Amino acid sequence: MAETAWVARRDKQVPEDVVRLLATVPEWFGQPESNAEYAEAARTKETWTVRDATGAVVGVTLVDRHFPHVAEIHLTVVDRGAHGAGVGTAMLRAIEEDAVARGVRLLEVKTLGPSHPDEGYARTRHFYERCGFLALEETDLWGPGTPCLIMVKPLGAGHAPEGPGAAVR
Ligand SMILES: CC(C)(COP(=O)(O)OP(=O)(O)OC[C@H]1O[C@@H](n2cnc3c(N)ncnc32)[C@H](O)[C@@H]1OP(=O)(O)O)[C@@H](O)C(=O)NCCC(=O)NCCS
Repeated sequence: MAETAWVARRDKQVPEDVVRLLATVPEWFGQPESNAEYAEAARTKETWTVRDATGAVVGVTLVDRHFPHVAEIHLTVVDRGAHGAGVGTAMLRAIEEDAVARGVRLLEVKTLGPSHPDEGYARTRHFYERCGFLALEETDLWGPGTPCLIMVKPLGAGHAPEGPGAAVR
């Protein structure tokens, strides 16, 4: 995986950039209704970005917080011209570091499941696996023909180990 000096940080909401980036990857985001929902979500959701040297947004990730112990990647998209250069990894790393600091125990993401033949999403699943996510369950949450794969990444130990070698109380 590419290692670069990309800096990902919590940012203001950037709905226009989300619309622009989604349009660069129509094979992944080709449904106008879904894109409209993402554009709307981008107005309010917690937003992390990577910007280039000119300040232009090249990657955006939106985060949901359902419970204090979990953070969900609601949307992640990188400008097609910057794919494979470490932008997506930089965003997930920054979100993970922030999550650990907040005591979050699980990262979650939902994506198209492996029972669908789409090759682009096979690469997407590979990306999440490279970032440490594990497939949890494929569900019909998104309706027939659109298998939803729930992936999770456990963070940190969270509690003292039990058994031999555990700290003496
Ligand atoms: C998936 C995505 C966010 C990854 O971000 P990225 O900056 O391209 O990825 P990185 O450079 O940080 O990581 C590269 C790794 O991801 C994999 N990858 C997944 N999708 C890729 C893509 N479209 N282009 C290049 N690499 C991709 C690479 O194979 C590489 O792993 P490897 O070194 O084992 O081969 C980005 O490619 C993207 O926006 N894809 C289209 C939209 C999408 O799939 N969004 C998520 C929907 S749930």
